[in-house]
Amino acid sequence: MRMVAVIPGDGIGKEVIAEAIKILDWANSRYHLEIQVVPFDWGADKYLQEGVGLPTEALEMFRRDFVAILAGAFGDPRVADNRHAEEILLGIRTGLDLFINLRPIKLLADHLTPLKGRTVRDIDFVIFRENTEGPYVRMGGQFKRGTREEVAIQEDVNTRLGVERIVTAAFEYARSHGRRRVTLADKSNVLTYGHDLWQRTFREIAGRYPDIHANHQYIDAMAMFFVTDPTQFDVIVTNNSFGDILSDLGAGLAGGMGLAPSANLNPGAVSLFEPVHGSAPDLAGKGVANPIGATLALAMMLDYLGDAQAAAAIEWAVRECIGAGETTVDLGGRLSTSACGDAIVSRLCDS
Ligand code: NAD
Ligand code: IPM
Ligand code: MN
Repeated sequence: MRMVAVIPGDGIGKEVIAEAIKILDWANSRYHLEIQVVPFDWGADKYLQEGVGLPTEALEMFRRDFVAILAGAFGDPRVADNRHAEEILLGIRTGLDLFINLRPIKLLADHLTPLKGRTVRDIDFVIFRENTEGPYVRMGGQFKRGTREEVAIQEDVNTRLGVERIVTAAFEYARSHGRRRVTLADKSNVLTYGHDLWQRTFREIAGRYPDIHANHQYIDAMAMFFVTDPTQFDVIVTNNSFGDILSDLGAGLAGGMGLAPSANLNPGAVSLFEPVHGSAPDLAGKGVANPIGATLALAMMLDYLGDAQAAAAIEWAVRECIGAGETTVDLGGRLSTSACGDAIVSRLCDS
């Protein structure tokens, strides 16, 4: 048996993960995957009741006993400083050194994009987001907090090792997936220390991949090109905070937050899979959240675990449902979260 940790988390995280698990149950029996789901109730409720975010033994347990982690979302209006999400989500990303945040931007059906005249051929690229550094390392502090002279410093950490490994991963991915171009997104015209490091490292590594076209865009211009000319992108590599923002913009191009999956990877080691979206307090408890982002995150997990056939079947079923309008309201359908999950399972059963 291969053990997969499942952490639904908060808000709609619980609702969408319930659907992903239905689909995993189907895949388990159809393809004899021998995956055992082990649920963990970490999230805002537990944090508020017991003061526990990520239990101290969790990372060691993941490394020792688990092949992957599937998570929903973390965030709750009752935890104003988002401390539990930081402990759980960022704690797992950095604690397991999941330095690649791979976020595909892939339009699954022409009608889903808000861009006029664009088709599935135009929007199909991946973002390689550095996942352990930048402003996410919590270095800095506050001085004279609450006074008029308050100073707040949040350091942006860029290390040679960190930049080198994400840029290399992006080029390796391009080569192994038939992608022709890697584009670096930075702000090296202003961030002349940190992003100079990105520039130099990128150029050096690009030199080792003469078969891949390497180019650079400033992040502000790239945001504009996402909307005006998304066809030019293949693989984008960028830092933690720019990657966070670009991935929601990309999700918008491909039909919205409800569809976008992501993988937090340390190749060869236990890795974490989750939808890109958050806990959506505006939707939580209403049974209307789109479960497709979580479902495609499950497919990415199965692919990572070597179960490519099951992953492909799930992606196919999702496309079929979208094509038939069997979707939640965000995509113009009429199905509830669980009815959408059922529709995907039913396609799979007929396949
Ligand atoms: P969000 O992604 O939760 O929601 C943004 C918008 O997208 C909202 O209008 C929401 O209704 C919609 N949306 C999101 N998921 C959807 C789905 N599956 N189906 C249909 N519509 C969907 O982002 P937010 O509102 O900025 O943040 C809410 C909370 O989630 C915050 O606490 C934030 O910190 C947290 N968050 C967590 C993660 C994560 O755990 N990976 C990611 C992003 C945000
Ligand atoms: C994401 C989220 C997280 C991030 C938050 C919730 C810490 O926005 O996964 O994109 O910023 O990485
Ligand atoms: Mn985000």
